[in-house]
Amino acid sequence: MSDVFELATEHEQVVFCNDQASGLRAIVAIHSTALGPALGGTRFYPYPSTDAALHDVLNLSRGMSYKAALAGLDLGGGKAVIIGDPHTLKSEALLRAYGRFVETLGGRYVTACDVGTYSDDMDVIARECSHVTGRTVAHGGAGDSSVLTAYGVFQGMRAAATAAWGTDSLAGRTVGISGVGKVGRHLARHLVDDGASVVVTDVYAPAVAALVSELPGVAVVGSTQQLVASQLDVYAPCALGGALTDDVVETLSARIVCGAANNQLAHPGIEKQLADRGILYAPDYCVNAGGLIQVADELEGFSFERARQRATGIFETTKRVFELADADGVPPAVAADRLAERRMREVGRLRGVWVA
Ligand SMILES: NC(=O)c1ccc[n+]([C@@H]2O[C@H](COP(=O)([O-])OP(=O)(O)OC[C@H]3O[C@@H](n4cnc5c(N)ncnc54)[C@H](O)[C@@H]3O)[C@@H](O)[C@H]2O)c1
Repeated sequence: MSDVFELATEHEQVVFCNDQASGLRAIVAIHSTALGPALGGTRFYPYPSTDAALHDVLNLSRGMSYKAALAGLDLGGGKAVIIGDPHTLKSEALLRAYGRFVETLGGRYVTACDVGTYSDDMDVIARECSHVTGRTVAHGGAGDSSVLTAYGVFQGMRAAATAAWGTDSLAGRTVGISGVGKVGRHLARHLVDDGASVVVTDVYAPAVAALVSELPGVAVVGSTQQLVASQLDVYAPCALGGALTDDVVETLSARIVCGAANNQLAHPGIEKQLADRGILYAPDYCVNAGGLIQVADELEGFSFERARQRATGIFETTKRVFELADADGVPPAVAADRLAERRMREVGRLRGVWVA
């Protein structure tokens, strides 16, 4: 097992939670509370080992600090994982045990949905814990966060179009979407409404069928490989992480990459390869922050209109990232990190000023 102190040198706190009777084995990682309580979802996943779970939660929680900072939220970064298969292990007792552990953190960590957890689960956790977002609409929650995630990705794409072509419209452009699940489906609708030609692919046939019945003008190809190789103006990875591999970057004809998937860069250095090929990459955590904005709004008593207004700001934030990238002569992914780090430093520092 890895040494947690060596792996988590940047993290403030890592908490291991164990409840043998319900089978709960969870890890909560708080990366930073410089800007506020650490908000991030709970991933319920059958990790092959505790080590794998630890690596994932540390990476994911760090990513949340950057996402919240760049989105201008008063939130830090955290994430939690529950180890096990949600289909067989999830129970009321386990979720409530987990809720009690989250409660012990006194609000330093606020949880939400992620892979393997849903709004209904958040309602159960909330029976033991006050620091829960992403709850069902019936319980005052924001509901499905993919609505504003897709809207935010569309705003990021408009900013990228402005930087690449001098127009904020995607009309007349061909946009390829890999993955038409919750986010990709909404994104396709925004694009069609804007006058773009949309080409999609998904490994899950019912997802494609549902989209085509809603938007009959959308074209379909058989695989992500085919999509990447076809003539595109914009490529939107909306399935899994690691979408931008060496091969994909070599093959792409698109001028812009802008999609919802987290952790799109397959390895460090890919951001430079994209820039060298003249492909404008809109950093994933910059453009996919709409969902975080939506669940964060719940902390103030959810208003969809207020959250939508904030998600509209992703257009300006993405523009700023491109401007800084140009000014500093670095890829946009590096510029986004610099902007996020600057805000954590400058605004986080103010907490050192004692207020009576
Ligand atoms: N839902 C949100 O609010 C949100 C917020 C931020 C980031 N994201 C990220 O956006 C991505 C999409 O999220 P979602 O909520 O739409 O998930 P989802 O599971 O609803 O949809 C993902 C879709 O991708 C498809 N897919 C999987 N592997 C594929 C492959 N190899 N090629 C083509 N399609 C494939 C799946 O069949 C599914 O239809 C994820 O990476 C997620 O982490 C989502």
